[in-house]
Amino acid sequence: MPKKPAKPTPAKKTSKQPAAKKKPAAKKAARPTLAERADKHALYQVSVQSPGVDIEFFEEQFAKYRGRKPLRMREDFCGTALLSTEWCKSDPQRTALGVDLDAATLAWGREHNLEPAGPDVARRVKLAQADVRETRFAKVDLTLAMNFSYCVFHTRDQLGEYFTAACKGLVRDGVLALEVYGGTESMSVLEEERPVRGATYIWEQEKFCPIDHRTMCHISWRFKDRSQIKRAFTYDWRLWTLPELHELLLAAGFKAVKFYFERVDGDEGDEFLTGTGDFVEHTEIENQEAWLAYVIALK
Ligand SMILES: C[S@@+](CC[C@H](N)C(=O)[O-])C[C@H]1O[C@@H](n2cnc3c(N)ncnc32)[C@H](O)[C@@H]1O
Repeated sequence: MPKKPAKPTPAKKTSKQPAAKKKPAAKKAARPTLAERADKHALYQVSVQSPGVDIEFFEEQFAKYRGRKPLRMREDFCGTALLSTEWCKSDPQRTALGVDLDAATLAWGREHNLEPAGPDVARRVKLAQADVRETRFAKVDLTLAMNFSYCVFHTRDQLGEYFTAACKGLVRDGVLALEVYGGTESMSVLEEERPVRGATYIWEQEKFCPIDHRTMCHISWRFKDRSQIKRAFTYDWRLWTLPELHELLLAAGFKAVKFYFERVDGDEGDEFLTGTGDFVEHTEIENQEAWLAYVIALK
C-alpha cells in the first residue's frame, strides 16, 4: 500500500534584519537535497540485488544437477556487475564475464565494484559492452540473467535468439538461470513502496496491455527531506509467461527446464503471506497475487 506522505517540515523562523545598513549578504547556495546527493546505481544495488543469496542458491542447484562446483559464470544484462564481482570474491578460482550494452553503467561498476574488490578480483571479472545475443564469448558453466532483464526482448524471435546464444555460450553441462515475476498483480497498474537504506524504494507499474503483454515500469526513490529521484530507471518490457519461456528454452536447445518458487509462510485466511527466501521446485502451483520464480535451464 502506498505510504502516507511524510509530514511537511515546518519552515524555519528567520529573525528580522535591519536591512538598510547591512551589506546584502551573499546568497547562500541552497544545500543539495538528498536526492541530488544520491547515486542511482548505488541505490539500485541495495534496493533490488542480493548477489550473496543468488550465488548460494545457484551453486547449490548447479551441484545438485551437475555434481560439481561452477567456476566460470556469465552475468547477462550485468549493469554494474555487482553479481560478477561477488562471484569472483566467493572463490579465488572463479571467473566472471559481465555483458551489458550500456558503457556508462559498466564504467560505474568498474569504479565502484570491481576496483574496490582489489586487483585479484578485478582481474578475474571481464566486462564486455555488447548485446547478450552475441556469440563470440568463451563458454561458461553458468549464465545468470537476474531481475527480469530478458523482458527487453518483445518478440519470440528476439527472445529465441537470446536463448540460442545463451545455450551456445555454455559448456556441455552448462546451466542458464533466469529470474521471473508474475501473478495477478503483475498485470495491474500499481505502485509499491518499501524502505531501503536511507530512502523509500518505489516500484511503479505504469501500464500493462493484455493484447501484447507489454508493461511499462519505473523505479523511483523518495528521501527523508521529501526530495525524489523520479523514474530513475524505466523498463519497457514484455511480461513473458512461464509456458512461453519453457517452450522457447527447449526450442533453443536446452534439454530440461525447472521452475523454482519462493516458499511463503502464513496461516489460512491471512491477507498477506511472507516470503521465506527458500526456493522450491514445482511442476504445479496455485497462482498468487505476486510471485517470484527462478527458471533453471539445463543444457
Ligand atoms: C534491469 S538492469 C539489470 C541489472 C542487474 N544485472 C540486475 O540483476 O539487477 C538491465 C540492464 O540490461 C542492459 N541491457 C538491455 N538490453 C540489453 C541487451 N540486448 N544486451 C545487453 N545488455 C542489455 C541495460 O543496459 C541494463 O544495464
